[in-house]
Amino acid sequence: MIKVKNILCIGAGYVGGPTMAVMALKCPEYNFHIVDINQDRIDAWNSNDLPIFEPGLDEVVQQARGRNLKFSTDVEQGVKDADMIFVSVNTPTKTFGLGAGEAADLQYWEKTARMIAEVSETSKIVVEKSTLPVRTAEAMSRILKSNSKNLEFEVLSNPEFLAEGTAIQDLLLPDRVLIGSEQTTNGLAACQELVNIYQEWVDKDKVLTANIWSAELSKLVANAFLAQRVSSINSISALCEATEANVDEVSIAIGADTRIGSKFLKSSVGFGGSCFKKDILNLVYIAQSYGLQEVADYWRQVIIMNDYQQERFVLKMIKNMFNTLAGKKILILGFAFKANTGDTRESPAIFVAKKLLEEQASIVICDPKAIDSAKHDLKDLEGDISYELDPYEASKDCHAIAVMTEWDCFKDLDYQSMHNNMVKPAFLFDGRNILNHQKVHDIGFNVYPIGKDSLTH
Ligand code: UDX
Ligand code: ADP
Repeated sequence: MIKVKNILCIGAGYVGGPTMAVMALKCPEYNFHIVDINQDRIDAWNSNDLPIFEPGLDEVVQQARGRNLKFSTDVEQGVKDADMIFVSVNTPTKTFGLGAGEAADLQYWEKTARMIAEVSETSKIVVEKSTLPVRTAEAMSRILKSNSKNLEFEVLSNPEFLAEGTAIQDLLLPDRVLIGSEQTTNGLAACQELVNIYQEWVDKDKVLTANIWSAELSKLVANAFLAQRVSSINSISALCEATEANVDEVSIAIGADTRIGSKFLKSSVGFGGSCFKKDILNLVYIAQSYGLQEVADYWRQVIIMNDYQQERFVLKMIKNMFNTLAGKKILILGFAFKANTGDTRESPAIFVAKKLLEEQASIVICDPKAIDSAKHDLKDLEGDISYELDPYEASKDCHAIAVMTEWDCFKDLDYQSMHNNMVKPAFLFDGRNILNHQKVHDIGFNVYPIGKDSLTH
C-alpha cells in the first residue's frame, strides 16, 4: 500500500496550477510540487505575475507558495520524490493519421507514462487529471506496470470539473469530486488516499468514487451535456430571430422548470474554451470506434450547431452592413472565450475575426485580459489588425462594434462617447446579449442582439 506525503503535478497549466494551489492551501501536511517543461511558465508561477488570470488565484498561490507548494522544471527529480503524481499535460485533438480532427493526441501522455516508469525508484499512485479518452488509464497502467523494477503503480482517474474564471470557487466548493479506480484491494486503497486528501475540505458525501471507466467517461459526458444545453438554446435563438420571440424570455421561462434548471441557457455567439469541442469530438470518436454511428451523429450535431451559430453571426453582420465590409473598421469587443479569463482557446472571436478579415474589413481588438493571446491566435493572418486596451480609443472611426465576450466592464461603457467616435450609421452586434439594447438604440446605434428583434433606425 502506498502512503502519500509528497504530491507532484506534471503540467502547470489552467488545470494543474489552480488545482494544486488550492490543494496545497487546504492540505498543509502534504508537500506539493508542480513541474512543467516550459521554463517561462514556471518562472511566471514563481513570480508575482502568474501565467494565467484567474480571480482569487494570486491570493491562494501567495499563501501556499514557499510553504508546501513549489514550482520547478525538474520533472525527473519531482517524479522520484513523489508518492502521488497528477498528470495534467495537454491532450490536444490529433491533427494527423487515424482519428485526425477527432481523437485525442496521446503522445505527450504516453511519453509521460514511460518517463514515470523509467525514473521511479519507489511505488506511486498516478492520477489522470487531463481529460482523456475512456480507457486511457488502462494504457497508462500497462505501461507503468511493465517496469522491471517490481514497483507498484496504481492509476486513478480524477477528472477536473473547474470552469475558467470561477476555478478557485469551483475548487474550494465543488459540486462533487469524482475519483475512479480499479476495483482491486490496491486500487481501492489508492483511491482512499486521494479521498483523504479531498476530505480535508470537501464534504464526505460530495466525494464520489467509481470504477475508472465511469470516471473517465463522466468527464466527457458532463462537458457534452453542458455544451448541448448551449447549442440547444442557440438553435432556438435562430428561431426567435425568425419569429419575433425573445430568446432571453424563453430561457427564463424554460429554466424556471426545476427539471430543466436555469443554468447554461444563455444564448451567445457560440461556446468556446479548451474542453467542450475537444471532449465532444472525443465522445464522437469513441462512439464511432464502437460502431455506434447514431450516438456519434447525435453528439456531433452539438458542434455543428455551434459552428452554425458563429457563421450566422458573421452573416448577420455582412447582410446588415449593406453586404460589404471591405475597408470598414470593426471593433471586436472581447476576445476571451468567456469573461474573467485571458484564455482564448476555441474562442468564437477567432472565427469571427478571420471571417471579417476575409471580407477585407479592418479589425481592432479590445479585451481587458486577452490581447496577448489574441495576438498569438491571429499572428499568421493577413489583413489590417490592431489591438487596443482602451475601448474608447478602439472605437475611433469604426463602422461597427461586435461584442464577443460578456466582460462586466463592457456593460457600463459610455456608448454615447463611442457612438460619437464612429462612422454613421453605426452598428452594434451584441454576441452576448449583455447590453441594454433599447438604450444603445436610443443613442443612435443599429442594434442586433442574439435571438431577439433587431432595433434599427
Ligand atoms: C467547461 C466546464 O464547465 C468545466 O466543468 C470543465 O472542467 C471544463 O469545461 P470552461 O470551458 O472553463 O469549463 O467554461 P464554461 O463556463 O463551461 O463555458 C464554456 C463556453 O460556453 C464559454 O464560451 C461560454 O461563454 C459558453 N456559454 C456557457 C454560453 O454561451 N452560454 C451559457 O449559458 C454558458
Ligand atoms: P490545461 O488547460 O489542460 O491545463 P495547458 O495547455 O494550460 O492545459 O497546460 C498543460 C501544460 O502541460 C503546459 O504548460 C505544458 O507545457 C505542460 N506539459 C506538456 N507536456 C509536458 C511534459 N511532458 N512534462 C511536463 N509538462 C508538460
